[in-house]
Amino acid sequence: MKLLRLGHYYSHHCFLPRRRLTSTVTSIPKICIVGSGPASFYTAQHLIKTVPRVEVDIYEQLPVPFGLVRFGVAPDHPEVKNVINTFTKTAKSPQLRFVGNVTLGRDLSLKELRNAYHAVVLAYGADKDRELGLKGEQLGNVVSARRFVGWYNGLPCDTDFPVNLDVEEAAVLGHGNVALDVARLLLTPIDKLKSTDITEHALEALSRSRVRHVKVIGRRGPLQVAFTIKELREMLNLPDCITVCNPFDFETVRSAVPNLERPRRRLTELLCKAADLSPSGNVDSNSRQFHLVFFRSPLSFQPSPDVPDTVGSMQLEVNQLDEQQHAVPTGSTETVQCGLVLRSIGYRSTQADPDVPFDIDRGHIPNISGVVQPGLYVAGWLATGPIGVILSTMTQAFGVGRAVEADVSSGRVDVSQARPGHTAIGKLLNDRGVTTVSWKDWERIDAVEQSRGKNVGKPREKIVDINEMLAVSVGTGGT
Ligand SMILES: Cc1cc2nc3c(=O)[nH]c(=O)nc-3n(C[C@H](O)[C@H](O)[C@H](O)COP(=O)(O)OP(=O)(O)OC[C@H]3O[C@@H](n4cnc5c(N)ncnc54)[C@H](O)[C@@H]3O)c2cc1C
Ligand SMILES: NC(=O)c1ccc[n+]([C@@H]2O[C@H](COP(=O)([O-])OP(=O)(O)OC[C@H]3O[C@@H](n4cnc5c(N)ncnc54)[C@H](OP(=O)(O)O)[C@@H]3O)[C@@H](O)[C@H]2O)c1
Repeated sequence: MKLLRLGHYYSHHCFLPRRRLTSTVTSIPKICIVGSGPASFYTAQHLIKTVPRVEVDIYEQLPVPFGLVRFGVAPDHPEVKNVINTFTKTAKSPQLRFVGNVTLGRDLSLKELRNAYHAVVLAYGADKDRELGLKGEQLGNVVSARRFVGWYNGLPCDTDFPVNLDVEEAAVLGHGNVALDVARLLLTPIDKLKSTDITEHALEALSRSRVRHVKVIGRRGPLQVAFTIKELREMLNLPDCITVCNPFDFETVRSAVPNLERPRRRLTELLCKAADLSPSGNVDSNSRQFHLVFFRSPLSFQPSPDVPDTVGSMQLEVNQLDEQQHAVPTGSTETVQCGLVLRSIGYRSTQADPDVPFDIDRGHIPNISGVVQPGLYVAGWLATGPIGVILSTMTQAFGVGRAVEADVSSGRVDVSQARPGHTAIGKLLNDRGVTTVSWKDWERIDAVEQSRGKNVGKPREKIVDINEMLAVSVGTGGT
């Protein structure tokens, strides 16, 4: 009901021409953003450009910025990380303050932020993952792809992530781009990773990996995959790696191709080509293999006979599609051998603070074009759910910036009375003994990482320990 009223309100007022409406802006508009991923930086960029005299403070739980651009994007995709240059330009504006190592819900409450600022934008992403809830999911080496990504990308909480690569058969559950990222990392020749910003510990473990066969398993068919063409092409072009598909999965696919929208059509044509090239007989078991498996859902995980607490095989249910393209079980099952299972069925947001209006079922903060209520906004994956690339996150975040701008200029957010902003919050953090990291401090971390990387032919050697990050940030952590 509340949201419906809000919808009516905003459909009439949100996109009015950019001119001051009713309020007399007498104080400096103070806005804070929680999180420092793409959604945060793009929202900040828009606000600094359009709201006169605005001050934007970004509070980030880690001592380092950039969210999934640093901790999600694969190390062998350096070009994607160029967005960091744009974010850095925004961060260097005198109107922006970065405050790292501060967690909403632990160091600060939403109430405190709302009292200190005229407006709060929540952009803290989705840093948990979905689970299957299946028998045997707790076995060793049934792991989360999200944590595997965090491990190779240097997320401090995943440094000691327990993954055993001393196995030949691995399975990845899910047909999204994260699934292909982790499959590619497992099958890429180690020499190709040496010059990336992959963490030292992951490089070392991958160089000893015995994983040769990776089955990427989806519950639906070739027409329903969630991954995109560039990522599929990379898999098909992996050196010394054979792609294996079951031609029966493609029986009805080819006839559907002409009616598909262009991006899906091109992706499906490439899948069909891969199926055509798939070897028909036995494949040399010593070769590296990427298996694309369709119409299979996991049912349970069984322990290995040799190492009882560790996964050795997985039971799969065979599916078909109903009229709505949902996967429905046929009643048949099959067993596949796998000493490593990576669950890659999507990320999940959480309620960081009890005052955050959170829809547990849908896993996001309900909003209309980023507006939760005047003065409270949500940007990025926390608003949309964990889907979309940096470009779509940018579009959504610019929309949130426009909504905040419209509310400030119309007086729906009253900025006539001064708010203390960081003066109050900084004092609170200091009283609570929280060590904070400024942008200058981050630049020291950045310089040390780049210098360490240079010594080993990498763009950077990421620091993976929070205490070391903090020491380096104040110039006492070595070079
Ligand atoms: C593995 C992976 C690979 C990807 N690769 C690509 C790619 O190659 N190309 C592409 O275009 N897109 C890619 N994406 C998608 C892209 O990363 C997202 O679209 C984008 O990062 C979402 O931005 P966000 O700001 O909403 O969230 P995030 O990037 O997750 O940023 C959220 C930030 O909030 C911080 N935070 C969390 N909780 C708190 C708290 N309580 N208090 C304070 N701060 C907090 C986090 O530390 C983080 O810095 C990838 C996604 C994943 C998962
Ligand atoms: N290179 C890149 O550009 C890049 C890299 C990584 C991530 N990203 C983006 O980041 C976003 C998140 O990626 P993601 O791979 O985590 O998520 P995703 O794209 O949503 O894919 C999730 C996959 O998991 C499957 N799934 C969900 N629940 C399941 C269940 N209970 N049992 C079996 N399978 C299940 C889904 O199948 P159904 O379709 O049947 O639900 C789908 O195949 C995406 O938008 C992605 O494009 C981009």
